[in-house]
Amino acid sequence: MPKDETTPSGDLTRREALSTISLAAAPLVLGAETVASAADTSTTGTLDIALHVNGKPLHLMVDTRSTLLDLLREQLGLTGTKKGCDHGQCGACTVLIQGRRVNSCLTLAATHDGEEITTVEGLAHSDGLHPLQTAFIDHDAFQCGYCTPGQICSASALIGEWRRGDASFVTADLIPKHSAILSDDEIRERMSGNICRCGAYPGIVAAVREVAQAGPSHV
Ligand code: FES
Ligand code: FES
Repeated sequence: MPKDETTPSGDLTRREALSTISLAAAPLVLGAETVASAADTSTTGTLDIALHVNGKPLHLMVDTRSTLLDLLREQLGLTGTKKGCDHGQCGACTVLIQGRRVNSCLTLAATHDGEEITTVEGLAHSDGLHPLQTAFIDHDAFQCGYCTPGQICSASALIGEWRRGDASFVTADLIPKHSAILSDDEIRERMSGNICRCGAYPGIVAAVREVAQAGPSHV
């Protein structure tokens, strides 16, 4: 008996079995294509959003796939915010969103409609540098400077968190209260999301300590 004919027992022949499998697989393949094209359509849109960037109201058409970091750097030309790892690991892209520090490489711009974004370009006061910028210079808190915008944005939020009494991993007393001293251990822990490949950490800690201890009128 040829190999592809029905067997006397009524079992499927090899040909029948293969054709059954391919027919069964067809909808799966078509299904995958359908899913893929639906995904293509849903991931290539643009959205009209409003942002306040460094105090300036903006209406922008943004690619829904664009991170806030790419929007700031590529669309708005605010290149003070740096792209280090693009994976949420180095802190070079730290900006303030509604006053809270955020890794801008990890958040989509389109999700911040109506929100206030502050980058390092927006930290300085009209009458001069932000106190943290001055302290970083005074304490030699950078070498190449690539991490510095993220360090300074992060430090400015850190001081606010400490003043509100937010606890960190090394805070001994978790009852929310503002302690009079921001210890070096607290600064190191609270700045641990900001990596400096030049190792300027001693200067960074000294700069943050100085500004924090100088009092609220300084930040
Ligand atoms: Fe965003 Fe490194 S570039 S955390
Ligand atoms: Fe070079 Fe921090 S100053 S990475």
